[in-house]
Amino acid sequence: MKIIKTKSELQTLVNQLKNSGKTIGLVPTMGALHNGHLQLIKRCANENDVCIVSIFVNPTQFNDKNDLEKYPRTLEADAKLLEQNHCFAVFAPEVDEIYDKEELTSVFEFDFGGLDKVMEGKYRPGHFNGVVQIVGKLFELSTPDRAYFGEKDFQQLAIIRHLVATKKYPLEIIGCPIVREESGLALSSRNALLNADEKLTATNIYKTLKESVKLQKSVKETINWVVTKLNNIDGLRVEYFEIVNGKTLQSIDNWDDADYIVGCITVFCGTVRLIDNIQYK
Ligand code: PAF
Repeated sequence: MKIIKTKSELQTLVNQLKNSGKTIGLVPTMGALHNGHLQLIKRCANENDVCIVSIFVNPTQFNDKNDLEKYPRTLEADAKLLEQNHCFAVFAPEVDEIYDKEELTSVFEFDFGGLDKVMEGKYRPGHFNGVVQIVGKLFELSTPDRAYFGEKDFQQLAIIRHLVATKKYPLEIIGCPIVREESGLALSSRNALLNADEKLTATNIYKTLKESVKLQKSVKETINWVVTKLNNIDGLRVEYFEIVNGKTLQSIDNWDDADYIVGCITVFCGTVRLIDNIQYK
C-alpha cells in the first residue's frame, strides 16, 4: 500500500491509474478508523479497481478549536488497518500541503441551497463550508469514479450530493448504512474519547430513538418525548433533535408531510458530541 503525502504524488498516481483504464473509488476520512470506515473501504474496494483512502483532520470544518485539538489522530494504526483491508493508497497530507494561509483564515463560500441552515449548520457555523472545501479539493485531486460516505452524517451526505450536483463532478456518491456496536451505539471516531461509563450511557441514544419509532404520537410529542427522556439520563444533554424530510432536511409538522422522514440527533455525552439518526418512514 502506498502512503502519499503530497498532491503532486497523488495526481501522478491517479493519472497512471486512469491511463491504464482503472476505476478509482475514494473514501474520505479524518482517520481514527473504526469498523464503520472499514465497511466503506470494503465496499469501495469491491466496486472499483482501486480504493484510495484519504486521512486528513480538516481544520476548516472545526468551529471549535478545542474539538480540533482533541480529535483522535492514529495514523500508524490506521495505516495497518488499511493495509489489511485492500486499500491501494492512503493520501495523508499535512495541513500546509492542502491549504495556504488565506484559506485557513477565511470562510470558504458555497451556496448550499438552504441545506446548511438547519441542524448541524445551526449549531456549528461554518462547519459545512469547511467540509465542502476539503471534499471538493479531494474530488478534484483524485478524480474518483465513486466516493463513499456514511449515513451517520446524514446532513453531510445530503450536502455532498448537492456539491456534486452543483459542481457537476463526474462521480457517483455512495451512501452506506450506519454501522453500530452490539449495544446499538453508532460507530464514530469520537467514541474513542468516551470512558467506559460514558460509552454505556451513550447507548441510550439509539435505544431511545428506536423506541420512539414505535410511539403512536404526533411529531411534536415524539420530539419532546425523545429530548426529555435523554436529558433525564445523567451525563447526556441533547443539543438538538429534529424530525425532517429526508430529502430537503426541513422540519416536518405531520407524519404525512413527506414520504421519507428521518430523525436527526446530536447529544453531548459528557464533553463528547455524538450524532445519530433514525428513519421513521
Ligand atoms: O465525515 C468525515 O470524516 C469528514 O467530514 C470528511 C467527509 C472526511 C471531510 O473532512
